[in-house]
Amino acid sequence: MSLKIKPLTARFGALVGGVDIRSTIADDSIAQIRADFENHSVLVFTDQPMDDARQISWSEQFGPLERTVPSNPAAGSAFARQSNIDIKTGETIPVNDRRMLYQKANMLWHADSTFKETQSLCSILSAREVPPVGGATEFVSTRAVYDELPAALKQELEGLEVEHDLVYSRRIVGFEFTEVEAAAMPSARHRLVQTNPITGRKSVLIGAHAKCIVGWPENRSRELLDDLLAQTTSSENSYRHEWRTNDVVIWDNRSVLHRATPYDGAKYRRLMQRTTVSFVE
Ligand code: SIN
Repeated sequence: MSLKIKPLTARFGALVGGVDIRSTIADDSIAQIRADFENHSVLVFTDQPMDDARQISWSEQFGPLERTVPSNPAAGSAFARQSNIDIKTGETIPVNDRRMLYQKANMLWHADSTFKETQSLCSILSAREVPPVGGATEFVSTRAVYDELPAALKQELEGLEVEHDLVYSRRIVGFEFTEVEAAAMPSARHRLVQTNPITGRKSVLIGAHAKCIVGWPENRSRELLDDLLAQTTSSENSYRHEWRTNDVVIWDNRSVLHRATPYDGAKYRRLMQRTTVSFVE
């Protein structure tokens, strides 16, 4: 098997060819894919028809899988379902349904699961049904932006901790958890500056779930988080993935932010299955 890697932007992202990720892959190819993942942050594979069992076995090559939070339609399973299709009936969900409001928050720049005690290494999203127009996913590199920060600011950021909170971020789009749901999802604290243990490269862990810098006054904290986010997302180093059915994309939740983009949910169906791998150092 000969892997072919084609960079997608100057700073991150790569298209990977020459491999069928649904079959058993030799250890040296897995090691190569893992190294490419650490270096490129986003890997795109095309023409890989997935079912749930295959996606789970492919995802487990990267580490242990998270269980989905109670508010997701696929709660308790290994899948975070990103879809306007009712999991029970197969019918499209009305656009003003609470489940669609919940997913609207995916259109804010974020990294998955930063609100959990155990951070995520990566997410793997497979396109099962895609709308003919819209519904792309966009990525930006929090590693590229870290590299460009002034040395004095880098020094100031070192050692800071950020509180990440799902209840806080869902509220931004007008979604309110019930008290019982909220109680099941306490916030989590993580280092603002993340160091990749394999490459040594640094990035900033920010995005919609980042509620505050621990110990800082609210205004100063908000200003720093908003500034870092603005610098990250105004960067020319963004990648927009226009999905085709059977695409599979894996991204590093420690070094990129992503966001979903709109599509006409009254007209088109979209079913994406996401597995999320925990970061075990
Ligand atoms: C996500 O935010 O994890 C999913 C992105 C998407 O549905 O495009």
